[in-house]
Amino acid sequence: MRVPDSELPADALDALFAEALEAQKAAYAPYSRFRVGAAVLLRDGTVLRGCNVENASYGATICAERTAMVSAVARFGPAVRDSNPPIAVAVVGPTREPLTPCGVCRQFLAEFNPRMVVACATQDLGKRLVLRLEELLPHRFDGDDLPEG
Ligand code: THU
Repeated sequence: MRVPDSELPADALDALFAEALEAQKAAYAPYSRFRVGAAVLLRDGTVLRGCNVENASYGATICAERTAMVSAVARFGPAVRDSNPPIAVAVVGPTREPLTPCGVCRQFLAEFNPRMVVACATQDLGKRLVLRLEELLPHRFDGDDLPEG
């Protein structure tokens, strides 16, 4: 299923939330017991799942959103920044308000497409917040002035 970057149809959004809920089942969260699921949708329609993966060294923990994005890069390589970028990410967790990605995840995701749709929801999908990543992370550091490799 090829989805236009500019919009995400309601059924595609529902399907992505369903993937995030499935992903959540794999969460490894023995320390916080706060289980999070995420799903990244690439332009070509591929969906990659992610969950949070915690660590006894707490700071080594990886959030669900980054796990999903890392999975996309592991599968498609640098193409995920150019020819097959993420157009949306869905995230769900046990929050009273829609779970929005942490600051590190916002920066990490923006590397690949700052305009991607970020679809956030509560556990039962009853409350949703859908917006663009650039709204969550305005004036991001984009690395444009880093030296050429
Ligand atoms: N976490 C995520 O996976 N995504 C978020 O957007 C927020 C926080 C995880 C990290 C940690 O395992 C647990 O939730 C509590 O912070």
